[in-house]
Amino acid sequence: MKYINNLNIEKIKSSFNDPKKPYRYVVIDDFLTTETCRKFSESYPDIDDKNWYRFRDTFHGEDNVFEKGMMGISNKEQLPPMCLEVINELNSQNFINILKNITGLEGLTNDTHNDIGQWAGIRAMLPGAYQSIHSDARKHPHLGTEKRITLVGYVNKEWTEKDSGYTEVWNDNMTECIDKVAPKYNRVLIFENTEKSYHGVPEVKNYRKTFLTSYLLDTKTFNETRPKARFVKRPNEKNVKLWDKLSKIRENLNDY
Ligand SMILES: [Fe+2]
Repeated sequence: MKYINNLNIEKIKSSFNDPKKPYRYVVIDDFLTTETCRKFSESYPDIDDKNWYRFRDTFHGEDNVFEKGMMGISNKEQLPPMCLEVINELNSQNFINILKNITGLEGLTNDTHNDIGQWAGIRAMLPGAYQSIHSDARKHPHLGTEKRITLVGYVNKEWTEKDSGYTEVWNDNMTECIDKVAPKYNRVLIFENTEKSYHGVPEVKNYRKTFLTSYLLDTKTFNETRPKARFVKRPNEKNVKLWDKLSKIRENLNDY
């Protein structure tokens, strides 16, 4: 491959399939070649670039308890060329074959909707932003297939602990945060999307830059119908009433 480094598949496979984890995921460092990640990071649009779309900061007239300060570019015409080339390689058959090997999911495919995929592109979070803990959308709203694998890449060159922006991994019944994945430069997180693969980014203190792709499975035994994310409360959540009021509405949105 042109942009992705040679990966230690056996090591990645063993970590991804570690039965001690609440759901299957793996963190891979030095994912892109040095030159690619440098170019990717440098070509990343500025905060005020007109191509960003902003996620909603209020929701049904209330404070948006689910997500705040988030922006994205999901349209291939608006992505910087280097970002598009990397995403195209992530969607290539060569990379899908690697994912099949790691996950054992033989029927895995890339998402062809809107050329690069329904949930693909780059995402940014502003200082003070957050994305509450959730399970991703399960069903592709346009193709009807299962969204089964999510890949998130981190490209903040100067990231330090005080910037926060950890991706938290929670257990099935939302009683415990099991892991905090630091958004280290040139790292990716690949996880299996299940009903309870709970994750989120509850605290961001500095501009946080990521890229994203998803992979699909066409399975006949798939009965789930949810095309949007499901947000879930952490044990210390104070605003329980507002959560309960808004979470069902959020889950049933049809703005895709
Ligand atoms: Fe997510």
